[in-house]
Amino acid sequence: MVTKTLIIGACGQIGTELTEILREEKGNDNVIASDIREGSKDLTNAGPFEILDATNYDALEDVIVHYNIDEVYLMAAMLSGTAEKFPMKAWDLNMSTLFNALNLAKDGKINKLFWPSSIAVFGPTTPKENTPQQTIMEPSTVYGISKQTGERWCEYYHKRYGVDVRSIRYPGLISYKTAPGGGTTDYAIEIFHDAIEGNYYKSFLTEDTALPMMYMDDAIQATIQLMKTDHAKIQIRSSYNLGGISFTPKELAKAINKRIPQFEIDYEPDFRQAIADSWPSSIDDSQAQNDWQWKHTYDLDAMVDAMLKGIKSTK
Ligand code: SER
Repeated sequence: MVTKTLIIGACGQIGTELTEILREEKGNDNVIASDIREGSKDLTNAGPFEILDATNYDALEDVIVHYNIDEVYLMAAMLSGTAEKFPMKAWDLNMSTLFNALNLAKDGKINKLFWPSSIAVFGPTTPKENTPQQTIMEPSTVYGISKQTGERWCEYYHKRYGVDVRSIRYPGLISYKTAPGGGTTDYAIEIFHDAIEGNYYKSFLTEDTALPMMYMDDAIQATIQLMKTDHAKIQIRSSYNLGGISFTPKELAKAINKRIPQFEIDYEPDFRQAIADSWPSSIDDSQAQNDWQWKHTYDLDAMVDAMLKGIKSTK
């Protein structure tokens, strides 16, 4: 029998594509999409969809019981840039949704939980290059503090209550199907839209700000692969480092320039520069490679080609 999956935050940047792929794999009716707001008609009409505020424990429990849910992907969160503007709201949203899901798992209402963490768990005192799985973590953003705290609770719920929770520290995720919401790595998406529309982009990060990034297809594959991995192989119950590709705005602009020769870029850093400066520039993901044979597919050129093609196809 195919088990039922619930995706929380299904209309968001990751949720939209995750829902699509999981529905292809498991059948539309076995993947229940939910979000606090309506999303694209494609998503809400293709299979079951619920308006759900996952900060509300009872509402979440109702959906889980009603559909007999086996596994949950909790993709709702407030990202780094927006969280700096609304610190308490971000903390409340990011933590209460996680606790609700962890407690439902602890009480046996679901069997498996995916919860995303981020490179934001690292901070200015973390080694910047090839950042190891276990290292100094003193995050300086509200988003990073919420993710690091979340990681500690995931590990605790696994050790203390046997909760099967799995997590990835996503790098900046690059995609064209659904817009991201308020992240520091969003420049690497905006740049493509502006390049196609007007051959010009003003970057809110400086030209030499290297950050770890990943094309969405790789991130979705990693997520599903981790969820399918045999329980016994999962050594990390806080969150796995995931590397992907590392580049600066200047390097990305150069790659776009090769394909759109008229493209020009300027740099005008804003408050997000300080956030980016506190994060690693590249990530060591050997633990994910060893434990569940992770390997990414998209390099910089493949990602740039896929983005330009993808955005043009939606015009
Ligand atoms: N992409 C996220 C952000 O910039 C990092 O997890 O907030």
